[in-house]
Amino acid sequence: MNKPQLLIARDVYPAVVEKLEQVFEVETTPEGVVWTPAQLIERLQGKDAVLTSGSERIDAGLLQACPQLKIVANLAVGYNNFDLSAMTAAGVLGTNAPGVLTETTADFGFALLMATARRVTESEHFLRAGRWKQWSLSLFTGADVHGSTLGILGMGRIGQAIARRGAHGFGMRVIYHNRSQLDAATEEACRASYVSQDELLSQADHLVLVLPYSPDVYHLIDAGALAKMKPGATLINIARGGIVDEDALAAALREGRLAAAGLDVFEGEPAVNPSLLSLSNVVLTPHIASASVPTRLAMVMLAADNLLAFFLEGKALTPVNPEVLKNSG
Ligand code: GLV
Repeated sequence: MNKPQLLIARDVYPAVVEKLEQVFEVETTPEGVVWTPAQLIERLQGKDAVLTSGSERIDAGLLQACPQLKIVANLAVGYNNFDLSAMTAAGVLGTNAPGVLTETTADFGFALLMATARRVTESEHFLRAGRWKQWSLSLFTGADVHGSTLGILGMGRIGQAIARRGAHGFGMRVIYHNRSQLDAATEEACRASYVSQDELLSQADHLVLVLPYSPDVYHLIDAGALAKMKPGATLINIARGGIVDEDALAAALREGRLAAAGLDVFEGEPAVNPSLLSLSNVVLTPHIASASVPTRLAMVMLAADNLLAFFLEGKALTPVNPEVLKNSG
């Protein structure tokens, strides 16, 4: 029997390619290459499956042009690159990579929070530029992390892992807002209290955004929301860039209404809004929250295992539209 045809749409670890080659006819993508939508469609001709990074857009147009496609396995936990209803309508299964990156991403959320509150990168640039002439009492004074109020918007797995770090490690008061309130046992484990979105904005000293992206949350943090934030607060975004109105954020930072922001994600990434680049009170990182060596490998392996489970056993480990499997059964 012919092997199913698979495109791995980004350069991934050789061990994963080797594993997949046991079952699939694999086309790989060279290092550094990101396919344009038209190139992706071209590469997907005749392919049964594709392993994506989380930024390849899978929409009705692509699905129509690639009728043989049966499964798209994202190596990311976020799957806002999927038009899920179009995929379900076309009978195409989507999978993501939850769980394996939770703790690593929470570590980074905390790293960004601390770097932002304590002005780590700003002061390092100052030192490297040879501008450090003497120690002084107020040199790069920032905000405390311990004992402050940590606000978390979006309390899924990663939000909860950040809450645990804040509450147990840094003695922070943790408040959160989420589509639904967590059960009492989970709140207790995270030592986190549910508040309204407005209470979250007005009470948090450090606000971390970690909610899934959908068009409903586009520019949720706009000028109005920023104006409700506690004066001198910090804002951390490790979710998706589109959640924040970056021009409004830059204005709040420029005017000193917010002390600082730490951003790992950007609306037009990899392009970064020039108004953010020109500010010194922003810590900017290139979407690396899950980027530890073991976690990145685990993410790709989970995507690979989804592909293998689908073709060998007719199921998936972490489907995002499992109704496709039920319908095909
Ligand atoms: C990264 O942003 C992911 O969604 O895994």
